Amino acid sequence: MDSFPWSDEYATGNWAIDAQHRRLLELASLLGEALAAGRADEIAAEALAALENYTRYHFAEEEAYFASIRAPSLARHRRMHASLVLDVESMRFNLVSRHPGVGAQLARWVVSCLLPHMMYEDTAAIAATGGKRSTPRAQAAAEE
Ligand SMILES: [Fe+2]
Repeated sequence: MDSFPWSDEYATGNWAIDAQHRRLLELASLLGEALAAGRADEIAAEALAALENYTRYHFAEEEAYFASIRAPSLARHRRMHASLVLDVESMRFNLVSRHPGVGAQLARWVVSCLLPHMMYEDTAAIAATGGKRSTPRAQAAAEE
C-alpha cells in the first residue's frame, strides 16, 4: 500500500484535529508514492522530513489542546505520541542507511499504529470532552 486516503471513518469529531489528520495522511502518501517509485534519494528524504516535521507539529498541537481542556488521557497520549515519533525517526534512519523495506515500514506505521490511534484513542479522548472547542481555533478563541 503506497497511498493512504482519508476516510470519514477516521474522523474524531474535532474539526481542527481531523484537518491535521488528513494532512498527515497526505504527507504519508507522498512518501509512500515516492518510495514505491523507487526513490531512495533526496525526494524521498524531503517527503520523510515533511512527514516527520508535521507529525511532531500535530502531536504538539494535540497535546496542547488536551492540556487546555484538562483531558485525563493527556499523559497517555504523550507516551503514545513519543512512540509514534520514534517510529518515524526509525524510518528516517533506515532510509538514510539505504535499508530496504521503508515503504513497508511506513504502511505498517500508518495502518497498524497511526490510524488506530486516530480512530480509537483520539476519538475517545475527544468524545470525553463532550465536544468542547470542536470549532476551528480562531473561532474558539473568539468565543472565549
Ligand atoms: Fe493522539
